[in-house]
Formats: sequence, structure tokens, C-alpha cells
Amino acid sequence: MKAAQDFINENKDRFLNELFELLRIPSISADMAYKEEVAKCADLVAKHLRDAGADNVEICVTEGHPIIYGEKLIDPSKPTVLVYGHYDVQPADPIELWHTPPFEPTIKKTEIHPEGAIFARGSCDDKGQMFMHVKAFEAMWKTNSLPCNVKFMIEGEEEAGSTNLGPFCMANKERLKADVVLISDTSIIANDVPSIDCGLRGLSYVEVEVTGSNRDLHSGVYGGGVANPINVLAKMIASLHDENNHVTIPGFYDSVQELTEAERTALNAAPFDEEAYKKDLDIDALYGEKGYSTIERTGVRPTLDCNGIWGGYIGEGSKTVLPSKAFAKISMRLVPHQTTDQITEMFSNHFKSIAPAGVRVEVRPHHGGEPVVTPTDSKAYIAASDAMEKTYGKKPIPTRGGGSIPIVAMFESELNLKSVLMGFGLDTDALHSPNEHYGLVNYYKGIETIPYFFDNFSK
Ligand code: BES
Ligand code: MN
Ligand code: MN
Repeated sequence: MKAAQDFINENKDRFLNELFELLRIPSISADMAYKEEVAKCADLVAKHLRDAGADNVEICVTEGHPIIYGEKLIDPSKPTVLVYGHYDVQPADPIELWHTPPFEPTIKKTEIHPEGAIFARGSCDDKGQMFMHVKAFEAMWKTNSLPCNVKFMIEGEEEAGSTNLGPFCMANKERLKADVVLISDTSIIANDVPSIDCGLRGLSYVEVEVTGSNRDLHSGVYGGGVANPINVLAKMIASLHDENNHVTIPGFYDSVQELTEAERTALNAAPFDEEAYKKDLDIDALYGEKGYSTIERTGVRPTLDCNGIWGGYIGEGSKTVLPSKAFAKISMRLVPHQTTDQITEMFSNHFKSIAPAGVRVEVRPHHGGEPVVTPTDSKAYIAASDAMEKTYGKKPIPTRGGGSIPIVAMFESELNLKSVLMGFGLDTDALHSPNEHYGLVNYYKGIETIPYFFDNFSK
């Protein structure tokens, strides 16, 4: 491993410049206006895999954005690691809140990253973290120290629900055969508190439309006499939580597996600095489901949140109008053993049932994903834990991630593969927000840690 680590040290500047090049491409998967850019980014990822030494690198065309596959098979008697990551990113808006352009990577120091962080959309989620694997592989391959087989599957639709990755996996079961999936697309607690996520929440995402009158109306002439879809929608959304912030949809919690007291104690033993958390977000109090800690609320409890709401007049000045329609986007984060189809249906039935006479309600399901819990006693988990202990000097704490990576549950159900979520970002790195960034220390630490994982896992 010494040779690989030396190689990493000697190539630090190049590794950073190459990441910058990747970050300059606005590979926004949600917006078809960026289709060309996403394709350009796929080409560059494929080129880097080839240059690093991967064989059979292929840009696999899908109905959406391409999936990149590559491999290095050195010995059939050795284990195989399947590396998964994504090169697509979230939209950058609201663009005016970025202090530097989202696709012009800039290094700046912050309180949390005194040695500097790379500010750019996708720097942490997930180009920076995905690219660590390409560079770690390059270091191992070029120093003749790759200890086992490796396969790469890097997709371009994670931020849009991984619609085409499921079918791709089903159609490529043989090619994707492996012993474990290794993913860096999650966070650690802090740079001096390493951790490994051992679970991800699932997701149900819906859009709702409330329609009142057949046209916008004068709010003086008709106001008071007919249902206002915005008023009604706001009331309906507000009713989805009770005074203790429990979700009120009948059956919502029925299949939720409550943690044992021992599990709750272990989960809550992880360091959590409530004051720092509030300060970072500039809020004076936390808010959430009664009876649970913030760690539980954001990791092992299901939630319902309105992500967007619109309708009526929002231009300059005023326009006295009763809108004909109001809309909202609503996400529900799911935990074992809730399923996305079940919860989406429960939501849909409930939401329609609470609509007052005088409006019509439509619920349109979007993408979803199942929750997952990954083992902490597997060879792969221990390999990751030992690797992080080596580079951080501390044993990582097993945690539960609140976000979703829908394909992880599918790896398990369809490919019979468990995953290890060895992420290196921080929750405060502003993923999906303006001014997303990724610590230089985190980037290099990830590249250093990955070869130790491979070494441990191959023994
Ligand atoms: N990398 C994130 C998920 C994540 C972040 C998990 C931090 C744990 C900690 C991923 O790219 C993501 O944002 N997923 C989406 C899924 C959706 C678009 C289907 C999410 O969680 O909203
Ligand atoms: Mn991600
Ligand atoms: Mn994301």
C-alpha cells in the first residue's frame, strides 16, 4: 500500500485539476436542456476510467442519461468490488445565492474547512466522492498494488430517481457480479469524527394539484363565495401533521419498525452538537416529531415535507385574483419496512379524502425508492471501518443516513449485493443548496482510505 500512497501524494495537484475539469460540466440530470452536458460529462468520466487503467470501458446508452461501466479483472479467485457513484448533479438554482459560479470550481476556506474547500455544484454530491474511487484505482493499478477485481458503474440519473439504472442492472446481472458494492455518496459526522452510514431512508415523492373554479377570478367579485385552491391546499398540507408533528395519514406508521431501547441508545450515543447545528443553519430552535431526538428524526423516523408550493399571482406588485389552481410537491422519507408504493397509495387516498367540496384534487406520483439497512458485521463493513480507522486514527461510528440512494435497496433485492456506504462528505457541505462544497482534506482522505479498504477486503 505504501507505493499507492506515495503515488497519491505525488499526484495531488493533478488529481485536483482533473476533478475541477469534471466540475466545470453542468451535468444536471433533471433538466433535459442539459442533456448534451450530461453526455459530455459521461465521456470525460469514461476517459478517466480508461486512463486510470480500466478495461472494457463502455458508455451505456439508456432512455435517459448514459451509465458508464468499466472493470479491471485481475484474478477470478480474488473478490470483486463493484464501485457505484453518480456524475449527475442537482440544478444550481437559486443561482443568485451562489457566491462564486456553481460550475467554476473555486477553493475557499471556511470555519469547518480551514484548509480549504472546493465550491462547485456536485463537488461533494457526488463528483468529488465518485472521482476519489477513480483516482484511488489509478494509484493502485499504476503501482501494481490492486489486490482484487474491481468494477465501476457510474450513473447519470441518481438525482432524477435512477429511472434507467434498475433495468440496466437487471439486464446486466452477469456483468455486475461482485462480492460487495462500495459507495461514497454519504457523510461523516465531522472531520475528526469519522462515521459510516448503515442505512438510508426511502422516498415517496408526489405532486398534487388542487383545482377550484374553471378560471382565475376577481378576488373581490368572487372572494368569499368559492373555494380558493391556495387556501384549501395550505389547509390540507397543514393537516398532514398533528400538534406533535406526527404524520396524520392513516396507516403511515403501521409498518415502521420501532428501534429497541438498546438501538436507540446506541444511535443517540453518536456525538451531536445541537448548538453548532442551530448556528450553522441560523435557527433558534429545532423542530420535529415529539418523542424523538434530532438524530432519530433525521435518520430512523419517516417524514413528510412540502418541497415546493405554487399557484396564483407571484409577479411584481399585486393582482387581486382567486387562482383556479394550486400545486405542491411533497416528499416522504421512508424507513424500514415502509414501501414506496404503499405509502404513495396511502398518501393519495388520504389526500383526496380530505379535499373539501368545491375543489378537485389530483395526486401524481413521481420517482421513489425503498429504504435500506446495511450490515455492520460483514467482512466489507469491517474492511471499511478498519480502513477509516487507519486514516483517521479513530474507529468510525455506525450511523443512519437520512437521505436516499434508491438503487441501494435494488442492489440488494435484484443483484443480491450488500453495499458499504463509505462516504466522506459533511452534512454541512451544502449538498443540493447554493454554495455546495467539498473539503480538500475530505477529497484526499477519501483517496487515501479507499486502497486500504481494497487491501482489507482482499485478505
Ligand atoms: N448523495 C445523496 C444522498 C445522501 C446524502 C445520503 C447525504 C446520505 C447523506 C443523493 O445524491 C441524493 O441526494 N439522493 C436523493 C434521491 C432522490 C433524488 C431520488 C435524495 O435523497 O433526495
Ligand atoms: Mn449523491
Ligand atoms: Mn444528491
